[in-house]
Amino acid sequence: MKNIVLIGIMGCGKTTIAKELGKRLNKSVVDLDEYLVNKYHQSINEMFEISEAYFRDKESACCKDIADYQNYIISTGGGVVKRSHNIELLKQNGIIIYLDRPLNHIVNDVETSSRPLLKDGAQKLYEIHEQRHQLYLDACDIHVINDKNIEDIVNLILKEIKSVYY
Ligand code: S3P
Repeated sequence: MKNIVLIGIMGCGKTTIAKELGKRLNKSVVDLDEYLVNKYHQSINEMFEISEAYFRDKESACCKDIADYQNYIISTGGGVVKRSHNIELLKQNGIIIYLDRPLNHIVNDVETSSRPLLKDGAQKLYEIHEQRHQLYLDACDIHVINDKNIEDIVNLILKEIKSVYY
């Protein structure tokens, strides 16, 4: 069974929706950021303090680990699309879903202290979105606009997966 892999910008709901999908489908969930922090015993802020490249190398190594998983729900960090090889790895055994949440829904409530790229404020999301929206579109098998409540989005994802894959 393929993994279901959620991609999208910081604050788009990947972690929350991954947990819900896990419950609904009775599948295990892995959060790439959490996996990375546990594997290297360093916080994301600490890794970025060394450099973004240091963090990205660790992120890519974790994509390689996780690419071998089967039948998992995987939530990724928003920058996973910055290296195309990460996506190639995750696609080997996964259906990629782009959770596209309108930025005005995100900027007011996104948690910035644990996200080094937002240290100057959530407005930075507009710039990041501009740089990455096309990358998310190119990487995904299914594009979902996340502007509804969690239950509706989970239902929509399940419907899309069924119509495309079964
Ligand atoms: C990042 C997103 C974060 C985390 C890191 C870098 C990014 O994950 O991986 O701070 O480059 O967009 P979330 O999308 O889960 O916040």
